[in-house]
Order: sequence, then structure tokens, then C-alpha cells
Amino acid sequence: MLVEEAIRSRASIKVFSDEPVAPAVIERCLEAAVWAPNHHLTEPWQFRVIAGEMRELLAQTVKASMLHDATGLDVAVMQAKALKERRGLLSAPAIVTVYSDTGADERATRENFAACAAAVQNILIMAHSAGLAGIWRSSRIYELPRVRSALRVHEAALFVGAIFLGYSLQRTVKRRRTPAADKTYWLQAEDFDSSYGDDGALEPRFTV
Ligand SMILES: Cc1cc2nc3c(=O)[nH]c(=O)nc-3n(C[C@H](O)[C@H](O)[C@H](O)COP(=O)(O)O)c2cc1C
Repeated sequence: MLVEEAIRSRASIKVFSDEPVAPAVIERCLEAAVWAPNHHLTEPWQFRVIAGEMRELLAQTVKASMLHDATGLDVAVMQAKALKERRGLLSAPAIVTVYSDTGADERATRENFAACAAAVQNILIMAHSAGLAGIWRSSRIYELPRVRSALRVHEAALFVGAIFLGYSLQRTVKRRRTPAADKTYWLQAEDFDSSYGDDGALEPRFTV
């Protein structure tokens, strides 16, 4: 599959068959992930693969955590939430969570996170070109201390996404994008002429 075709035809898929994904295919996606650009070669990504029975164990950890934190809240509400999370976790045969290492300062942390986002896109594109479907999901459950502990993720690492992978049971997905031209401005020489107001302050000019 050509790169442009893979980028354009990838779509977030939410409904998967029960067919397991071969570990080798997931490994291929993760090998693609690590070729993402990353400043100072920090290689800030931490991947955790949760497949098969591990999803059920994770669902139990999530439930235990939710009930533990439910002080004063209706336990039945928390149980219903935990059940919903369990359904979500079991909806795809494999989940890859991506966490980002923090950096020496706020800027480095932000750059690490950006690198991890690029790694996620590599996973999605590689998965798509290998015939898999996927979706980047976010949920607070991946921030829970018990979940971090089970996943062996450092408490400071930033959660980037949970990538659900499997074989699609969805037919067509309607997708829409604003043309890039609507979000783009090509700079002109006059843009570099500073414009100052009467008080000498620089007047901001927003064109996009
Ligand atoms: C940071 C991030 C978090 C996302 N979290 C969710 C999510 O929790 N649930 C969901 O259904 N989709 C989630 N998505 C997927 C987007 O909804 C999806 O990419 C968007 O609808 C565009 O569709 P497409 O991927 O098919 O182009 C997330 C995407 C990103 C980038």
C-alpha cells in the first residue's frame, strides 16, 4: 500500500471480530512506532500490550480501583461504570497502551509527548497496511494508580493513548476533513514588516 493511500484510507474502527491478532503483527506495528521522530533521541515511548485474557484481568483491576475510590459515591454507579469499561476493554482482541516518559523540563516533556503521538500514528498506519483495524482511544482508567502498577508504568509517565487493534466488523466509515488549504497561510514578504500602533506596541496580526 502506498503511503498516501494508507494515510488517506486509515479510519478509526470501533467494532472488531473476536479473531486474535498474531503477536508478530503487533510487533511489526511497534517496530514501526519506534521509527517516529524524537528529539535528542530520547525514545520516550513505553508500550504495553494487553491481549486475550489480560483484558479481563485489567477489567478486574479497573473495577477494584473504581470501587476502592468510590467512597461516598453510589457503589452501584461505580459497578455500572466498571462494567462499561470492561465491555470496552473486551471490544478489541488487543490493546496497546502508549505512555510517554517525562523530560528534564516542561519543554522536553512536551516534545516527548509529541514524539509518542507520532509513534501512535505509525502504529495505526502500519496496522492498517497490515490489514488490521484500529482506533486511538483515551480513558481515565489508564491513569489509575492500580492500573499503572499492573501495567508496570512509572507513575510520572504520561498516558498518550490506548490503541485498540483487531479485524474490522465495520463496513464503511464516513470521514470528513477540512482541506489543508483552509488551515494554511503561505507567508508573503510584507508579513515581515512590523506594524506598530500609536503607543509603539506591536499590533498582533492573525491571518489563519
Ligand atoms: C488523542 C486522541 C484521543 C482519542 N480518543 C478517542 C476515544 O476515547 N474514543 C473514540 O471513539 N475515539 C477516540 N479518538 C479517535 C478520534 O475520535 C478519531 O480519530 C476521529 O473521529 C477522526 O476519525 P478517523 O480517525 O477515522 O479519521 C481519539 C483520537 C485522538 C487523537
